[in-house]
Amino acid sequence: MLSHKAPPPPCAIVIFGANGDLTKRLIIPALYNLARTRLLPERLALVGVDHNKKTSEEWTGALKDFLAQSLAKNNEEVDETLWGQVARSMTFLSGDFEKNDTYSRLKDLLGDLDEKQSLGGNVLFYMAVADRFFGTIAGKLGEAGLVEINGKGFRRLIVEKPFGHDLASAKALNACLLKYLKEEQIYRIDHFLGKETVQNIMALRFANGLFEPIWNRDRIDHVQITVAESIGVETRGKFYESTGALRDMVPNHLFQLVAMTAMEPPVSFDAEDIRAKKAEMFRAIHPLSLGDVVRGQYDSGIVSDQKAKAYRAEDNVSPESAVETYVGMRILIDNWRWAGVPFYLRTGKRLTKRSTEIAIRFKRAPYALFRETPVDELDADWLILKIQPEEGIRLRFNAKRPGPAMALESVAMNFQYKDYFKQAPAVGYETLIYDCLIGDATLFQRADQVEAAWALVEPVLEGWANTTPRHFPNYAAGSEGPSAANDLLARDGRSWRRIN
Ligand code: BG6
Repeated sequence: MLSHKAPPPPCAIVIFGANGDLTKRLIIPALYNLARTRLLPERLALVGVDHNKKTSEEWTGALKDFLAQSLAKNNEEVDETLWGQVARSMTFLSGDFEKNDTYSRLKDLLGDLDEKQSLGGNVLFYMAVADRFFGTIAGKLGEAGLVEINGKGFRRLIVEKPFGHDLASAKALNACLLKYLKEEQIYRIDHFLGKETVQNIMALRFANGLFEPIWNRDRIDHVQITVAESIGVETRGKFYESTGALRDMVPNHLFQLVAMTAMEPPVSFDAEDIRAKKAEMFRAIHPLSLGDVVRGQYDSGIVSDQKAKAYRAEDNVSPESAVETYVGMRILIDNWRWAGVPFYLRTGKRLTKRSTEIAIRFKRAPYALFRETPVDELDADWLILKIQPEEGIRLRFNAKRPGPAMALESVAMNFQYKDYFKQAPAVGYETLIYDCLIGDATLFQRADQVEAAWALVEPVLEGWANTTPRHFPNYAAGSEGPSAANDLLARDGRSWRRIN
């Protein structure tokens, strides 16, 4: 994590998918922001690989234009000195990801750049491409000898989501990567872990004497994790038709939030210590059954005062699609800390608001003391970690309303990041890229974690593949999700928090 505060060693970064969305929207702006905070390598060569014909000047120019457009939204202009640090040595290499010749040219180019700029043999390969290329690129890099370490510098590989489509494909991809690379060379990104508020969960839990002693089944009634989006599938209909909300969000982003909330304290912030604790937590989750999971699909409706189409009417979506755009589930963690404390998870598109939060509900206080008062029910206390768009922590508890009678009201203490910290502009990839450059794998997923997460959702994927949902679409765009999700909690005598 960004605690080291020194620029990473000189290196080359090779981006496969140099003309893609990820490169212009996230990778290049993140490098620019790292230059701002002086955390970019002092000697850096950026190489972009893609199939189109382009000169290095055209590639650089297009990326700079896009950056300028994004900064203009905040009335900012590109700072030429900072841009110069990112763009000092940018080379575009036109090549087919599937042809050997691309990799032999890349090898020559990297050799030249290393010699000219003394990069110490360090290369970070970034696969910003569609997942169908992951195996091919890793294999070709391996065959070309580009990921061998040879005692000189580092060779690392960043893999983006989706990491597999199910357990079998995730295993196959891991096997393919591990044929040529060692586990410690592979950085599997889950961009949720790049969010400051997600990283802060560890600080909240482990840097305070207050929370950890009550972070268990003695004090906590249940946990609700919500990742609600107000957007629909936008231009990604084709991708979504073969993915769905479960694959897209649960084994990765939601499970990472569960892991951050539920893992045991690691003995250090060392990557292996943290990853081992997360892996243990995944192993303790009770196998999911179909009865613990509900699915939904959005109908037309109104979101933020605008009409929104039904999922089945979106571009590149089948009018009879059975793909889910909402998932709600109940998971149980079978260990001493959490046994009997359900974790309820929900995520969906076209919900009323964009809101990601982890809400921890504490057990109610005993009522006896209030028997002789007009108070007929005690509210439970909540600790709510607001991840986005609001960033902060809220504690809700009961207070006495002023006056002669004993009347209670639920009140809140509110901490908001923006009130305390001036945050440097960030796209959320800065820490992840920086960590990879300094070799800190804490925020990246290890092979066993990825496979454990897929193994957990596998029975649901199989069950759903064999049954057509009868009531789709089952929630209106702009609502809080399908009623089946409410039933899931009602069965346990509980209810969801409002999405707000
Ligand atoms: C992506 C999913 O991984 O995460 C998208 O593919 C989703 O469907 C996105 O919209 C949400 O990320 P964020 O950072 O906008 O909350």
